Amino acid sequence: KTQKQYNFVVKEAQYTRLCSTKRILTVNGKFPGPVISAYQGDTVYVNVYNRGTHNITLHWHGVKQPRNPWTDGPEYITQCPIKPGGKFIQKIIFSTEEGTLWWHAHSDWSRATVHGAIIVYPKKNRAYPFPKPHAEVPIVFGEWWKNDVRKVYTEFVTNGGLPRKPDAITINGQPGDLHPCSKSGTFKVNVDRGKTYLLRIVNAAMNLILFFSISKHNLTVVGADGSYTKPLTRDYIAISPGQTIDALLYANQEPNQYYMAARAYSSAPAIRLDNTPTTAILQYNGNYPPISSPPLPYLPYYNDTQAAFNFFGSLRGLPSKYHETVPLNVSTHIETTLSINTFPCPKGHPCKGPNGTHFAASINNISFVLPSIDILKAYYYHINGVYIKGFPTFPPFLFNFTAEYFPSELQIPKKGTKVIVLNYGSVVELVFQGTNLVGGIDHPMHLHGYNFHVVGHGFGNFDKDKDPMKYNLINPPLLNTVAVPKNGWTTIRFKATNPGVWLMHCHLERHIAWGMETVFIVKNGRGSNETLPPPPPYMPRC
Ligand code: C2O
Ligand code: CU
Repeated sequence: KTQKQYNFVVKEAQYTRLCSTKRILTVNGKFPGPVISAYQGDTVYVNVYNRGTHNITLHWHGVKQPRNPWTDGPEYITQCPIKPGGKFIQKIIFSTEEGTLWWHAHSDWSRATVHGAIIVYPKKNRAYPFPKPHAEVPIVFGEWWKNDVRKVYTEFVTNGGLPRKPDAITINGQPGDLHPCSKSGTFKVNVDRGKTYLLRIVNAAMNLILFFSISKHNLTVVGADGSYTKPLTRDYIAISPGQTIDALLYANQEPNQYYMAARAYSSAPAIRLDNTPTTAILQYNGNYPPISSPPLPYLPYYNDTQAAFNFFGSLRGLPSKYHETVPLNVSTHIETTLSINTFPCPKGHPCKGPNGTHFAASINNISFVLPSIDILKAYYYHINGVYIKGFPTFPPFLFNFTAEYFPSELQIPKKGTKVIVLNYGSVVELVFQGTNLVGGIDHPMHLHGYNFHVVGHGFGNFDKDKDPMKYNLINPPLLNTVAVPKNGWTTIRFKATNPGVWLMHCHLERHIAWGMETVFIVKNGRGSNETLPPPPPYMPRC
């Protein structure tokens, strides 16, 4: 076992994109931030120094951190934020993950620029379950705002409306040729004809599910969210915020320049971007007459829900040899509705939500409120009054979730810091049901501390009697983030063998800000390997 250390200095740096310059928050001055690499099973330490002007926390997305929620990162869930001038040594315990994951800030909207890839290689002397690639290329998608992201955040959470939209999607920090003042920076990958490349793809965008493709080339997906998948060859991929994909690219075309392109998929008109794709260049080495403007690849249309879910629904796991199989004896059934809601506008605060209301979001009609000290500390030290147990594990009302009209009282959720308590070893089956209360959209749901088997999904209302008969209990994909279709449902399963306090939330940053999250407290088991160890002595204080 190797023990690696990284120094992460959170500080501002000046960046110019889309013809204007601003200061952004970075790690070590980089956007996207530095790559963390490790071998399967390693433990890595990151010394995080906050040299910025606001509180921050960092999270290792998709790393299960067995029995170590203390350095998982989400603000007020597992730790108090690191104050400006402060330091926190974060231990990252890799266990079974293999492939691409990522890290990001978990405070307000700072993750817009504070994020980077995590690459977990197989143990030394162990091979990939696919031919060894000639080289590996990280592809990190982001969003670029000409406005200050902190301002964008405070503005929409205060005025209750929709946030401003980003000005471009980026590939490794760059909007690409088709955007103003962007040509010289366009990201390029140089390849040799006849060789194979492993793309390590991260969607670090704040609110946008993306389509991505490469002109004249297919992508063969071999992993997702740090687990291997059955190879899936497609002419495009779809990837939601929070997801990661490992894909092989065969450089088997005529030597030339080809565009790679990404464009937002959006099922909700209110957040649609303009249609200009973000591009990068795939450039073959060798001598050939270069073409002045390479053709754009095929990308599904911006609202092509079928294209997005056809891709998501085609992923299959690679069980047994590479990862655990689906648990069969479910002990805990949970059903959730994921809704966009509204609150009445506080007096004297003109709100920009629908009909003068304030936007909200909820799970089972509870809109989550962050406490003022972290839930993990409150749980561990039995501090009362920080959270309450008994988050409803079934929706509070029964109706046709995807109907067009609802009584207006259903649109207003309850506020609360409520958690779901699970016994150690529970086998959880959880159904996410999208609703159309104020509006329907896809929700990429993410769980900390675990990955889960996605055993089924569908459009419309979940049917308790019929849909479970169609579950894939053989080779479903093992993910940590799953896109629940607009006005549809998704079922996941996981075994609660990681004690601690673990956040579950929609990975659209807008929806987290509105309250679409909850927390699982997984109790200790009986064995010495089933209990939560004490915190490190250097936890940040509130
Ligand atoms: Cu990508 Cu709560 O995390
Ligand atoms: Cu959402």
